Amino acid sequence: MGSFIRLFVLALSVTLLINSSAVAGHDYDPYNDKPELKNHGGPMLTGTVNLAIMWYGYCGKEIKNTIRNFIKSLDFAGGKPKHQPKVVSWWEVVESYQSLMPEAKPGAAANISVKVAKQSSEKTYKLGMVLTLQYHIPKLIKHVTKGDPNIIPVIVAARDVTIQGVCHGKCADHLLTEPPNRRPFIIVGNPEVECPGECGWPFHAAEFGLKGPVLKPPNGNMSADAMVVSFASALADMVTSPMQDGFYHSFYRDNLGPSAVCKGIFGRGAAPGNPGQVQSDPKTGGNFNAYGYNNKRFLLPAVWNPKTKSCWIG
Ligand SMILES: *[C@@H]1O[C@H](CO)[C@@H](O)[C@H](O)[C@H]1NC(C)=O
Ligand SMILES: *[C@@H]1O[C@H](CO)[C@@H](O)[C@H](O)[C@H]1NC(C)=O
Repeated sequence: MGSFIRLFVLALSVTLLINSSAVAGHDYDPYNDKPELKNHGGPMLTGTVNLAIMWYGYCGKEIKNTIRNFIKSLDFAGGKPKHQPKVVSWWEVVESYQSLMPEAKPGAAANISVKVAKQSSEKTYKLGMVLTLQYHIPKLIKHVTKGDPNIIPVIVAARDVTIQGVCHGKCADHLLTEPPNRRPFIIVGNPEVECPGECGWPFHAAEFGLKGPVLKPPNGNMSADAMVVSFASALADMVTSPMQDGFYHSFYRDNLGPSAVCKGIFGRGAAPGNPGQVQSDPKTGGNFNAYGYNNKRFLLPAVWNPKTKSCWIG
């Protein structure tokens, strides 16, 4: 009888669990769930990844320099040895997915070098202040890549520009262009005006009344430092699944990449509304979890480490 009741309770709770997840659709829990980042047969980006960045609207030097310094930091192993962890160690976790590819050779994963190959600024808002994925983004991609199919477009929005789909559950995204020539691209929203509570967190109080510490941006600009977080996530997810059929964790209708499965985690003890324990710069008070190029500090989103089966937080 006892075991029958236990079975019944178990069945009931499983049913409730499935129902609540299916209804909400986005109930993956980065703090407790154990994702399975499997390769789904598709490629990874390897070798050199060339980016073409389109700064759309008036993006000041705070945004441009902070994002470019982050990219330069991905392979910057120099700097003071005591400055740990480094951005390069975060990137090594992303690179390590290469050793999980079916054709991988034993040994350390090769370096993946990310370069800014082209940049273009559109300060006159030629296509207006709302960019749609169907109409405006393809035009900008064509413009910034000059038709080069081997270069990855990254469209970055100024504070007064809205990109379709951003600020509604996503702060940046890795998407594919339309067939027949599908290829990856990244969009990066700007949280300053549109959604500071959603995409400016943890440098801005979180929306939905979640209470927790608000961090100080390590490079002094809430939007710029928050855009590094969202761009870094999109980059990690794109490199490991450029055609959206590489590494991801399937969760209902969502395919979550190495950074998406660790969303909201920046340090030990992270919980909803709380980014977790991070370092603070004694001079500026800026909060960070990784050192980069030219003594810069960054707050990077955790990434799933396939070796330790946990979110890498430095
Ligand atoms: C951040 O920098 C941008 C320009 O790059 C500027 O428009 C914005 O006002 C700055 N924001 C803050 C909070 O300082
Ligand atoms: C690969 O990257 C590491 C830093 O992670 C660097 O020390 C090393 O020199 C790089 N190797 C090559 C061949 O570029």
